[in-house]
Amino acid sequence: MQQPLKILFVSSEVAPFAKTGGLADVSAALPKVLKDMDHDVRIVMPKYGSINERRYTLREVIRLKEISVSVGGKVVHANVKSSFLPDSKVQAYFVGSNEYFNRPGFYVDPETNQDYPDNAERFSFFSRSALEILKKLHWQPDIIHCNDWQTALIPYFIKKLYKENSFFVGTKTLLTIHNVAFQGIFDQKALPLVYVTKDEFTSNCAFHFWGKVNFLKAGILYADLLNTVSKTYAKEIQSCDEFGFGLQTVIKKRSRYLFGILNGIDDQHWDPETDKFIPVQYSKSDLSGKMDNKRALVESQGLVFQPEVPVIGMVSRLTDQKGLDIVSKVLDDILNLDVQMVVLGVGEKKYHERLQKATTKYPKKLAVNFCFDNELAHLIEAGADMFLMPSHYEPCGLTQLYSLKYGTIPIVFSTGGLADTIKHFSPDTPRGYGFVFNEYTAENLIKTIESAIDVFQDKETWKKIMNRAMKLDFSWHKAAEKYVDLYYRLKT
Ligand code: ADP
Ligand code: GLC
Repeated sequence: MQQPLKILFVSSEVAPFAKTGGLADVSAALPKVLKDMDHDVRIVMPKYGSINERRYTLREVIRLKEISVSVGGKVVHANVKSSFLPDSKVQAYFVGSNEYFNRPGFYVDPETNQDYPDNAERFSFFSRSALEILKKLHWQPDIIHCNDWQTALIPYFIKKLYKENSFFVGTKTLLTIHNVAFQGIFDQKALPLVYVTKDEFTSNCAFHFWGKVNFLKAGILYADLLNTVSKTYAKEIQSCDEFGFGLQTVIKKRSRYLFGILNGIDDQHWDPETDKFIPVQYSKSDLSGKMDNKRALVESQGLVFQPEVPVIGMVSRLTDQKGLDIVSKVLDDILNLDVQMVVLGVGEKKYHERLQKATTKYPKKLAVNFCFDNELAHLIEAGADMFLMPSHYEPCGLTQLYSLKYGTIPIVFSTGGLADTIKHFSPDTPRGYGFVFNEYTAENLIKTIESAIDVFQDKETWKKIMNRAMKLDFSWHKAAEKYVDLYYRLKT
């Protein structure tokens, strides 16, 4: 057996403490599985104002009570507390700061709906704190696993600021890119935070991005290894601006060091056999409970339960990435079909308005919920017949994986992780378990929804599709082994 590793997992969101999307799910599930594999894995995340210290039993750590962290030369105090991921032995450290994290939002100010203007400072403080915590704990990890732009300064700090410091000589970094559209781009006022002078800020500088300061770009250049969350997305982000968001050339340059590892499902939380948020549990061998969940979902949404009418579910950020542009275009066409639709999501104002207007026009067919509601997300996965996720691009996507497990058949555009996880069903491809279109247009979307509804009328065929979907194995164990391979590759 290979030697257990010491891994520090650094993330700006971890479920259930703080979540806006899939990063939080991954940041909880992967460390738990690594711990089950006997690795010594610990998490560092910010202590946002919304994290309830009593509920999650956060405790003071004497050694970490007041640590001094340099943020571009200014000394800031971090107050670090600790707890465990629920139902696990994974220790999590929470970086607290009145100045930076004691606020209602994570990245965006809910009052203005804009990014906090000091995000560069907040996450440079966070990244630096993660390293200072290690020194105070005298814990030298083999690997620091960073995630997205919020932690992308860590590889740079280690190589630049700590290069004379023997503490980190044995530590290697992996940076996972969950979504290259979010890069942490700031104006030049951020330069002191990364210890770069105006003179040094030429086009050769790792941070330089069209005259701005780009945290993710530096992470990509300085991390020892990189990965993203599906093989197809790993290719896409090197291919063109549409997917690489301006970083395609930089990523391509590091192509040899970039891997694609698909996310998994945390079956402690997402499993229809044990899901505590749904009224009736069910399994692939006994699907009877699915109809009860359909009734519960539809009625909870103020719609009339009609067992023969397919229910289309959506749990999504309401943004262009998630395909809301094409959904909006054909929303009337969808709702003129014999369907009901339940949407849960928050996002762009124009999509809220579009959906809101449609509920007035189709009150018996459409229900929308503009909020973040984990319990309802579970009920939609369990109660809907089909799951709509026509993302324009999708690094991995978790909700389509949850849908498969709940026998809720995904309708997707073929991109990134959706292309890697969903196999199209048609009479010519009878082993499929989803409905996939290959050209991103509203016409193709509506045609694909229509064909899913046609197939739904054939109860026997639909049941077979559900069975195939529910039998698939997207467990985190397989994915975690691939991460461990990367960690060992770094160690040797
Ligand atoms: P992304 O991270 O791009 O938003 P993923 O499919 O990877 O997409 O993950 C989304 C996660 O966030 C899933 O766990 C999904 O259930 C959850 N989610 C998204 N929107 C909501 C919402 N409005 N309420 C509750 N959960 C949501
Ligand atoms: C990002 C991506 C999503 C992915 C998630 C977790 O939010 O948009 O596709 O599943 O990260 O990796």
